[in-house]
Amino acid sequence: MKICCIGAGYVGGPTMAMIAKQCPDISVHVVDLNQARIDAWNSDSLPVYEPGLDAVVAEALPRNLTFSTRVDEAIAESDMIFISVNTPTKTFGVGAGRAANLEFIEKCARQIARVSTGHKIVVEKSTLPVRTAEAVKRILSSADNGATFDVLSNPEFLAEGTAVDDLLNPDRVLIGGESKQAIETLVDIYANWIPRERILTTNLWSSELSKLTANAFLAQRVSSINAISALCEATGADVDEVARAIGTDSRIGPKFLKASVGFGGSCFQKDILNLVYLCEHFGLREVAQYWEQVVSMNDYQKRRFSERIVRTMFNTVSDKKIGVLGFAFKKDTNDTRESAALYVCRDLIRERARLTIYDPRVPETQIRHDLAVACSDLQGQISDIDRKLIENNVTIVHDGYVAAEDAHAIAVLTEWDEFRSLDFDRVYASMQRPAFVFDGRNLLDRDKLTKIGFEIHAIGKSSDESIKG
Ligand code: UDX
Ligand code: ADP
Repeated sequence: MKICCIGAGYVGGPTMAMIAKQCPDISVHVVDLNQARIDAWNSDSLPVYEPGLDAVVAEALPRNLTFSTRVDEAIAESDMIFISVNTPTKTFGVGAGRAANLEFIEKCARQIARVSTGHKIVVEKSTLPVRTAEAVKRILSSADNGATFDVLSNPEFLAEGTAVDDLLNPDRVLIGGESKQAIETLVDIYANWIPRERILTTNLWSSELSKLTANAFLAQRVSSINAISALCEATGADVDEVARAIGTDSRIGPKFLKASVGFGGSCFQKDILNLVYLCEHFGLREVAQYWEQVVSMNDYQKRRFSERIVRTMFNTVSDKKIGVLGFAFKKDTNDTRESAALYVCRDLIRERARLTIYDPRVPETQIRHDLAVACSDLQGQISDIDRKLIENNVTIVHDGYVAAEDAHAIAVLTEWDEFRSLDFDRVYASMQRPAFVFDGRNLLDRDKLTKIGFEIHAIGKSSDESIKG
């Protein structure tokens, strides 16, 4: 059997590498328009950082896994085609800032229709608004070369940073579709390593909606605990203690209750906005408003964090140096999409702070590009002032100690393990006084740092000055 995947990104690359590893008899061809990305997949330095992924790719690459830009050829040769292209939130026209931009999906569907002969199964892997499969089906059915298609929805639930484990040992695999035969063909692939009872099959629309709903529920948990973190800071309760106390209730459960500077990543916000757009489309205003609050709370949490930094540092960070630890949206990934760090750094840059940013996996070019985008409007325009501030006031360094040197404060924005094991006596000795720490991930040992002499402010933990009684 031959399969191909259009899109060699954070989802397509790791998912296909795992299928190839687990199914040596299936030939897997991953294609992308981006030559540099394909070259990276074929090199020792993969474009996606994921613990354990190198070994998975290395095992399959010479045997039954190919990365190339030969999109037409891959489609023509394959029995099954996965679509795993990006579906960013629209920045223009109707639904701007909310609806998904389906331009890339539609282009793929047209390309598949043009190139295919015989019968093919097309699998939606990208996160999509509900009923996208309908559009894909209509485009495919316009093929005038006699080709026929079944369309399946097979949303990916892997989380970045743990993708290899999530793919190897998923809670469930979800496959939605109309044709029993097509569904069975895909079930058989996953059944090579996943117990059949964990492979759920549904109709197309349930599958598409389940993906949006799962992400909305997960994001809602983070926003809920973050909302409580604000109350903790005001009252003297400790959000980690509250999370532990409520998490032991088996109906609530302990996972996804870690208060933070805000959730990021390519999925949560985008999927909720998709859900909101969908509800509005169907006239469900109250439902739309309910889910939109999850995103509003997240925006509030990010804003609250940068405001707390400014307020605590005597109401000005202008010309003060702030060492930023972490830029990725979570640990163990080089992905920065929607990272809370983007917005906190943007706010601090606009307050005229000097930032020294260190992330173990995100390169300087990416950080500078992201900051420029974060400071731009929906049309992509950046003001001269913002551009100059990024140019002159942001330094990217390759070491946590250098980031902290001579700084008035450090801000932890990603929970990388290595930040925990920094020698904080050394960090303290190199900083200005008072030495502020703003821990946006509740990663560091507060007692230890306080004893060294730091003034530490963490999420959902009151600092004396903030308890108003
Ligand atoms: C998410 C879903 O988990 C996954 O199933 C889906 O396929 C894609 O979207 P991902 O975005 O890769 O995965 O990472 P996830 O672990 O869900 O974290 C998302 C964001 O929430 C991160 O910024 C993380 O730091 C934050 N988070 C998560 C918290 O702030 N607190 C938590 O308790 C959990
Ligand atoms: P995700 O996190 O969903 O995997 P990414 O942005 O990391 O999203 O990856 C999507 C990939 O899809 C990109 O590498 C992009 O170049 C690729 N892509 C988009 N449209 C097409 C297309 N029509 N043909 C081939 N590749 C495409």
